[in-house]
Amino acid sequence: MLFSIVTLFPELFGPFLQTSMVGRALEQGAARVRLSELRSFGLGKHKSVDDTPYGGGSGMVLRVEPVVAALESLDEAAAAAGEPPAHRVLLTPQGARFAQQSARSLAGRPHVALVCGRYEGFDERVRSYVHEELSLGDFVMTGGEVAAMAIIEATVRLLPNVLGNEASTASESFSDALFGALEYPQYTRPAEFRGAAVPAILTSGDHAKIDAWRREQSRERTAARRPDLGGAKS
Ligand SMILES: C[S@@+](CC[C@H](N)C(=O)[O-])C[C@H]1O[C@@H](n2cnc3c(N)ncnc32)[C@H](O)[C@@H]1O
Repeated sequence: MLFSIVTLFPELFGPFLQTSMVGRALEQGAARVRLSELRSFGLGKHKSVDDTPYGGGSGMVLRVEPVVAALESLDEAAAAAGEPPAHRVLLTPQGARFAQQSARSLAGRPHVALVCGRYEGFDERVRSYVHEELSLGDFVMTGGEVAAMAIIEATVRLLPNVLGNEASTASESFSDALFGALEYPQYTRPAEFRGAAVPAILTSGDHAKIDAWRREQSRERTAARRPDLGGAKS
């Protein structure tokens, strides 16, 4: 899977792309990342990418021409390399809320472009050049780069052969195995810490009972914390 990232700050991605699970996935070739610096598509001798908003108001708005030129150049580079064109994702607090289902859907695509905004965001006309708009949540960040990293991390771990133990994505929070609910409580050694003991069922060796306990814990936890999730009713 190829991620193309349009950003004014490609240097933000350095350590992120070299570390842990994402770093391994890139090293093994399960995922690839291509960084496209928006500034190089800027206008004039100052490579300008932003301008003041029509109608007045504070801040600067990203111009449509550099963003569209960057997106078209990604597809030209992809075509030259025999790769499919990008599914274009605009990162914006006004987009659909990114969720596990969005990560699953992106993981099924061969090429995803993530477009990171800055300043006051994008000229409205950019929106007709993308396929979808995603938000990390109901808060406003200074730029789209952290959202891009979150989306890459959540998506890459769903690709085949990226995590050592495939079962760990099969029965975690929001998975089909848990009917979209939150994961049950997890424990590791020590068996007791400052008076807090591991539930006896988990050391019983009775796997049928452990599975039933975990399903019930998942259901109760979801009902208490996230009644909006379907798994609360399962
Ligand atoms: C300061 S924000 C612009 C916010 C915009 N003026 C608004 O009110 O909707 C600058 C950029 O950060 C990114 N960004 C900020 N919050 C985000 C979020 N919750 N999800 C995804 N991207 C976000 C977007 O790319 C956005 O264009």
